[in-house]
Amino acid sequence: MIEDTAGGTPWVVELPEQAQPYDERFILVHEGKREEIHLHDYARVYSVPGLYEYVVQDLLQCKSPAVAVRATSAAAKELHLDIKTLRILDLGAGVGVVGELLHDAGVSAVVGLDNIVEARTACDRDRPTVYEDYIVGDLGRSDSALVERLAAGQFEVLMCVGAIGGGHVPPAAFIQAVNTLIGAALIVMTVHERWLEADSRDPFSATLHAMINEGYLEVLKSSSFRHRLDMAGAPITYRVLVLRRGAAVPADLASRSGA
Ligand SMILES: C[S@@+](CC[C@H](N)C(=O)[O-])C[C@H]1O[C@@H](n2cnc3c(N)ncnc32)[C@H](O)[C@@H]1O
Repeated sequence: MIEDTAGGTPWVVELPEQAQPYDERFILVHEGKREEIHLHDYARVYSVPGLYEYVVQDLLQCKSPAVAVRATSAAAKELHLDIKTLRILDLGAGVGVVGELLHDAGVSAVVGLDNIVEARTACDRDRPTVYEDYIVGDLGRSDSALVERLAAGQFEVLMCVGAIGGGHVPPAAFIQAVNTLIGAALIVMTVHERWLEADSRDPFSATLHAMINEGYLEVLKSSSFRHRLDMAGAPITYRVLVLRRGAAVPADLASRSGA
């Protein structure tokens, strides 16, 4: 059992030793009460100021946001683009950790998108200045007003940090997001290595492979890194991918590829 206080917060977090490493639950101890919370119950986690950052960034040592922002900077440099002037869409923005790092890197035009209102509420509460705009919406629900709004944003980079695969942004929504970008836009994502394997049962895998094999995305960079620890302290390996968009992706590619 790991028990820790989060530097002056009125709560304590316990990470129970897990029989199942992928059962991502922790205990929040607050005012004498113990509450078991699943790490992916984002609405609940985000409702407690600092809880997501403490569990994910501090206790589980999540590196994905920093790795993705570094990869974006490096790609911009190699392509002779000024990162500060790029228009960036942060899909699955959560409490704004990625937005904050982009803001620190001097990027001024970052828009956050998440499918739960609790994410925007938490970001407004804790990082009110990092996004130019924070949209609550779900591209998986064929929302044409949302698609038009994103297309009007003229985004040159799509960031998907820890928000793809494993039941997060669905493949069809990812395709929609890619299709709202302009020109040879960049897509920077961090994703579990397991979900990228050709025989992975994650629906995202087949869609991404089809997008690459059929020439809709070009891989500029792909490298593995330690994303974070699981609740039992074992490393979880992700890949950071930098992709360049080609032609518009057919809307039926996700279903065609078996997703
Ligand atoms: C693991 S968190 C990552 C948050 C942030 N990118 C970071 O690195 O700190 C995944 C986020 O994706 C969001 N998400 C899941 N499905 C989504 C969807 N269909 N559309 C938009 N966001 C989604 C969740 O609400 C959650 O905030």
